This record gives sequence, structure tokens and C-alpha cells, in this order.
Amino acid sequence: MQKPLIVVTRRIHFEALQKLNELGDLKIWEGDGPIDPITFAAWLKTADACLTMLTDRVDELALSQAPHLKIVSNMAVGYDNFDLKAATARHIMMTNTPDVLTEATAELTWALILALMRNIVPARDDLLAGKWTTWRPDGFLGTEVSGKTLGIVGLGRIGRAVARRAFAFNMPVIAWARDGRATIEERIPRAARSQFLARADVVTLHVPLTPQTYHLVDKDWLKAMKPSAFLINTARGGVVDEIALKSALDRNELAGAALDVFAQEPVDARHPLASHPRVLATPHIGSATNETRKAMALRAVANIRAALSGHVPPDLLNPDSLLSNG
Ligand code: GLV
Ligand code: GLV
Repeated sequence: MQKPLIVVTRRIHFEALQKLNELGDLKIWEGDGPIDPITFAAWLKTADACLTMLTDRVDELALSQAPHLKIVSNMAVGYDNFDLKAATARHIMMTNTPDVLTEATAELTWALILALMRNIVPARDDLLAGKWTTWRPDGFLGTEVSGKTLGIVGLGRIGRAVARRAFAFNMPVIAWARDGRATIEERIPRAARSQFLARADVVTLHVPLTPQTYHLVDKDWLKAMKPSAFLINTARGGVVDEIALKSALDRNELAGAALDVFAQEPVDARHPLASHPRVLATPHIGSATNETRKAMALRAVANIRAALSGHVPPDLLNPDSLLSNG
């Protein structure tokens, strides 16, 4: 019997590749950047399974040319790069890697909160520029984290993991979620949007990018925030209207922002938000730990293994793909 062909769009952890190798023949994109869409579509023509990154768009056009494809396994928790509907219509399973990156992403969120509010990066830049001539009573004064209210948008796994750490920093937590999921976590009080934004000193985003969350943080949202408040985004760039954020910062309607994600990635050093003096920008590194990237790769492989052996993948996003045409 012919072995399944598995397309892998980036070189991932070697243990994950070893496991994949036991499942079929591998075709691995070795480029330093994402696979280009034309090569990707060409490779999918003969593929039985595909392991993708969040940088790969898997849309109707790509799927329509992939007659043997059973599963597309994203090595990410977010899957806004997937057209789930198109895949479901073609009985192609799609999976993601939840859970394994929750703690890493919560850790980065806290790193950004602390670094932003305590001016870590400007202080370090100053030191390296040779400008540390004396201790100053007024040098790099930041905002004390302790006692400030942390406002969490989205109480999924990551939002809750961020909330758990707030106790250690002596920050009361409030939450806002559009779907009522927040009630699951009884200890985190929920506020209506206007109260939430009026009270939060830090607003941190933990929702997926969907048509409902696109530009959730818009001009009105930013206006409703305290001028002394900070915005943290480790979710997806599209959740924030970047033009509105830039003008809110320019008009001092907001104290600062830390952004790990952007509407269009990558951004360069001249990007108006990334280079803004009151923005701390990082290059989409929420899940970037050795432990987590390995766990993500292994989880993405486990989903492919299940699909190729006729089982339901543990992280199946579109169960309707299993329904027969009947
Ligand atoms: C990273 O952004 C992910 O969705 O895994
Ligand atoms: C992501 O996994 C979330 O649920 O926040």
C-alpha cells in the first residue's frame, strides 16, 4: 500500500518530524519564510495530510485542488488562517493545538504588562546608549502594577491563565466577554462593557480573531478606556483597529500599549505602531518557548496520526466534516 504523503510547511521539532516519518512520506518546506501559496497549492495536490503554521492561508482555492487531503493540522491555537467552512464542505478535518501554549502565552502577557508599565525597554536602551550617568529620583518613572485593576477580555484558557497570575501581583481582576463564558469562572467578576472599560487600568485581549472580534477594540472602545490605562494584545492584530489605536496614543487617550501581534505580519521597524514611543512591540512570540513549541509540534502530529488511522483527532475543529454526504 502506498504511504500517505504528509506536507509540513516549516521545519519543526525533530521529535515531531520523527513521529510523522513513521506515518508517511514527508514533504517539508525548508524555506526561511513561509511557503509561497503557489508551491503550497501544488504540494497539496498529492497530499493526504498537511501540518501548517499560522502564516499559511488554507482557503477554498488551496483545498479545492487537494483531492486526497484528509486533515490540515495547524501548529497554533488560533486558526483564523483556516477556511473551516470550505474544509467541512470537502470533508477535510481541521485541527489546532490548544492547551499546550496557554501558560507560555500567559507568561508573555505578564512580561509585557510589567515591562510596559515599568519602562524596562526605554531604561535598558538608555543604559546601552551610555546615558546612565547617575541615579535620578525622577528617572524612568513607571506605573505601579500593584493595586491596579486588570481587565481581561475573553475568559478562555489563556485569559484564565492570565487571571490566575494577577493574585501574585496584587491586581484585582474584572472580565468582559461577549459570549457569557465568563460566568464559568465565578471568582472573576464580569462587568458590562462601559463599566469594564471605565475601571480597568490594564486591558488585555484573549479572544480569537473571528468576524465578531474583528476591530473589537475600535475608536469608541479606546475612548471609553481611562487615559492612564494600558492595552496589551497577545491575541491577534485584527482584534484592534490599529489606526484608531495610533490616534488614541497620539491624543493621549491611552498611556501605552504592548503588542505582540499585528494586523499584517511581519511589521518593520518603521511601522507607525511598532515604532511609537509609547508602544512595546514584540514579533508574535506568545508561544515561543522551547517547551511549548515542542509540545505544539507533537500535538499537531497527534492530530494527523489520529486522522490517518481513522480516528477522530483530539483537537478537531469541524466535527461536521465527519458527516457523510448522505
Ligand atoms: C499563536 O499565535 C497561536 O495561535 O498559536
Ligand atoms: C485560547 O486557547 C483561549 O481559549 O484563550
